[in-house]
Amino acid sequence: MKVLVPPITLQDPSEIFRPEKVIKECGWQFRKYSSDSEDARQKTVYETYLQMHTHQTVDFVNSKIAEWTKFDKFKCGILDALDKLNSFVDDSDPDIALPNSIHAYQTAERIRAHHPDKDWMQLTGLIHDLGKVMALYGEPQWAVVGDTYPVGCSAAPSVVLRDSTFRDNSDAKNPLYNTTLGMYKEGCGLDSILMSWGHDEYMYQVLKHNKSTLPQIALDMIR
Ligand SMILES: [Fe+2]
Ligand SMILES: [Fe+2]
Repeated sequence: MKVLVPPITLQDPSEIFRPEKVIKECGWQFRKYSSDSEDARQKTVYETYLQMHTHQTVDFVNSKIAEWTKFDKFKCGILDALDKLNSFVDDSDPDIALPNSIHAYQTAERIRAHHPDKDWMQLTGLIHDLGKVMALYGEPQWAVVGDTYPVGCSAAPSVVLRDSTFRDNSDAKNPLYNTTLGMYKEGCGLDSILMSWGHDEYMYQVLKHNKSTLPQIALDMIR
């Protein structure tokens, strides 16, 4: 007996948020940050960066590296990690409040459109933010999401919300760390830089630990 099944339509989650047309029409700008906006999303973003810039210090970063590179918190496959991000909204993003799994598929899909021949880069796009699962294992968002920057020296003017968020950071009062070069030597190279702790460095360390066969350039892109 033949059973007729009606066609199943699946919604591609990456089609849910397509702001390109709206942006063109109303002149929307991405990555706008404000320290005094009444907008709920802007307030959440500001609070996330305020906590980050208050608590991320050289000691804090070193303690988090030691803690998370033991890799003793959980075991998880790539697809499971993507699923976990279905329930995670990044509090540092001023533009959208959608689950981060959508960002993963959108990134991979856009790379596929521009680089159809580079399967490794498409995969890199898909997994680049999976380090955010730290937030589902006890880490506050200010130690997971957002832009990272070098610690151990004064924050550059390009650091997000720099002028209004560093006043209570203990390193900002420490003469070893609060100058332009801080604990670094001029020309020391990126390998000697200690970045604020977050999902980028964590995912890089996860891939190294698991002996990922992605090319080094992919690991560097994620980091
Ligand atoms: Fe990221
Ligand atoms: Fe991302």
